[in-house]
Amino acid sequence: MKIIEKISEMKAWSQGVRGEGFKLSFVPTMGALHEGHIELIKKAQSISDLCVVSIFVNPLQFNSKEDLLRYPRELQKDYKKLRSLKVDVVFVPTVNEMYPPSFQTEVVLPKLSQELCGKFRPGHFQAVATIVLKLFHIVKPNIALFGEKDYQQLLVIRSMVRDLNLDVEVFSMATVRTEEGLALSSRNHLLSSKGLGDAKAIPTALRAAEEIYKKGERNAQEIEKKIKGFIDKDSVKLEYFEIRDVESLEKISAIKDSALCAMAGYVENVRLIDNVVLKQESDE
Ligand code: PAJ
Repeated sequence: MKIIEKISEMKAWSQGVRGEGFKLSFVPTMGALHEGHIELIKKAQSISDLCVVSIFVNPLQFNSKEDLLRYPRELQKDYKKLRSLKVDVVFVPTVNEMYPPSFQTEVVLPKLSQELCGKFRPGHFQAVATIVLKLFHIVKPNIALFGEKDYQQLLVIRSMVRDLNLDVEVFSMATVRTEEGLALSSRNHLLSSKGLGDAKAIPTALRAAEEIYKKGERNAQEIEKKIKGFIDKDSVKLEYFEIRDVESLEKISAIKDSALCAMAGYVENVRLIDNVVLKQESDE
């Protein structure tokens, strides 16, 4: 496994293997790798010849210095996991190389990035779009893989790829969860065992919304109201629980074929997000 820190070296490697006709996949991450990341990497390897994983804790996408500083960093452990997966290259650039003092360009998606998490995390999605675009230019993948756990992020990236005509195929994967339903997240590493227990209120709320939907409720506000009343306030400090259009993320009142049910909340001061897509089960 090659560990590359320099942008110029990464570009040269990618240019070389693409020139030789290899199909290159890419999984961007911020490290502290868990089974959710691992699933993306295994899928990436299964649909390409060579796989690059990046680990870069992108300072621009954090809304507070405190959150950035405490974000889990486990580089040696990550390398071990990636080595055992036989990943071809790990790209680990420094902050200084990615953002030299003269850096100023940003990618802005004015509509999508204002909804849901965007309302509570100003500038977050433009920072995500910007870093992902930079990474795409440096790594030059044919395919890039993202998790549906970060649904809004996935939509932002798909829109950027479409709007800017990028030659990257975006592939998404279902959320990987613990047996009890909690979505895996690097931020779970910051929770105590009590916190991990409390956090289960999040998937419980989403499953309850799904149940209400399956029983025939199609009024989005009714589902929102019921679930908000049901969430245990001692476990999760709710930031939002919303039912939205699956593409535009705009508010909807009646659910037609499908809808996104997304939520964010704090457990022990750690911000967690999760979602489920409500859709009719197809007839057998
Ligand atoms: P990070 O949180 O490390 O996530 C990297 C990738 O793993 C993302 O595509 C994310 O959606 C996916 N992922 C995280 N938890 C998952 C889970 N439980 N199941 C399936 N996939 C999961 O997302 C980022 O980093 C950053 O914003 C990044 C895209 C790297 C840009 O900085």
